[in-house]
Amino acid sequence: MNYFEEYKNKNILITGGAGCIGSNLTKKLSKLQASKIIILDDLSASERWNIPDKPNVVFIEGSILDEKKVKRVFSEKIDYVFHLAAHFANQNSVDHPETDLLVNGLGTLKLLQYSQMTKIPKFIFASSGCSVYGSQNPLPLKEDYVSIHLDTPYQITKLLGELYCNFFYNYYGLPIVILRFFNVYGPGEIPGKYRNVIPNFIYRAMHKKKLPITGTGQETRDFTFVEDVIDGILRGGVISEAVGEAFNIASQTETKVIDLANIINELLGNPNGVEFIEKRKWDKITRRCASIEKARKILGYNPKTKLKEGIKKTIDWFLRNNEKIEESAIF
Ligand SMILES: NC(=O)c1ccc[n+]([C@@H]2O[C@H](COP(=O)([O-])OP(=O)(O)OC[C@H]3O[C@@H](n4cnc5c(N)ncnc54)[C@H](O)[C@@H]3O)[C@@H](O)[C@H]2O)c1
Repeated sequence: MNYFEEYKNKNILITGGAGCIGSNLTKKLSKLQASKIIILDDLSASERWNIPDKPNVVFIEGSILDEKKVKRVFSEKIDYVFHLAAHFANQNSVDHPETDLLVNGLGTLKLLQYSQMTKIPKFIFASSGCSVYGSQNPLPLKEDYVSIHLDTPYQITKLLGELYCNFFYNYYGLPIVILRFFNVYGPGEIPGKYRNVIPNFIYRAMHKKKLPITGTGQETRDFTFVEDVIDGILRGGVISEAVGEAFNIASQTETKVIDLANIINELLGNPNGVEFIEKRKWDKITRRCASIEKARKILGYNPKTKLKEGIKKTIDWFLRNNEKIEESAIF
């Protein structure tokens, strides 16, 4: 069965659709001939040019906290809500904890309320595997064991979002699917002060600068290519057994940060290597690797992209959008 046929002729809301994951999801849903893809994004962490310019994509500039805008969006008949908008991520939340709580906490609650009131058939929530498991759980991380010992406001509010989702599922029967992404990377993520390590390493390597490693470089992460993440999201949206469940969407491959840096320097011919700088005080995660067995079994999720291949595709996107990225990247 081709699950993705399900999205044909459907109306879909993507909050945060101008961001890295959202823009890729929009592109794919547009190809799958969704009838209308509404993006609600305030562009606080993204750019207009990142939104795919397609006839079935409608962009509404506004915040998920703006009652009028949210009301307007939900006045349409919507078949799927993909709630991706968030104040991203750890360091940003340490610097701006109130905005983090408003957007990730109150914003998520608002979307759940409107979804419940208008009887949305499916609500998919973007959670974070680097948040809800804390830093102490045994590897590979399994869905059942979340932590309450979290290290940043972002980690707290991502867990809060899950807790609200569970409340709306248990109390109102709102059909919810929670997806926990792990270190997503790929085309569509503009580098910047609060962005992930891969776009920031690529950007610096392109400028022939040393790649700054916060720690020893032996720390590991589970880097997941955005196309694989989109496949997981789309599966999560249509498979009925997924409702009421949480899934890790990851690559299940551990990569040392030093190895990542070396791959990027090699691919971009950067002779300047790396520099080791102070570890960030909140960053207590030394190793990260997810179990994806549950997603494999229930969703049929099967990530395919090897790290080097995904990085090459990401570099291609940087080269194609060089001028725009130069204008948009803020450090
Ligand atoms: N990228 C990752 O590695 C990763 C890992 C785990 C979870 N996630 C989650 O996945 C989702 C998407 O992540 P991403 O990497 O695409 O992030 P992103 O920052 O690129 O996208 C988020 C989008 O939300 C928008 N936004 C922020 N505040 C808003 C508001 N108040 N109203 C409307 N829009 C608002 C931003 O402008 C941005 O376009 C987020 O919920 C994030 O927490 C991402």
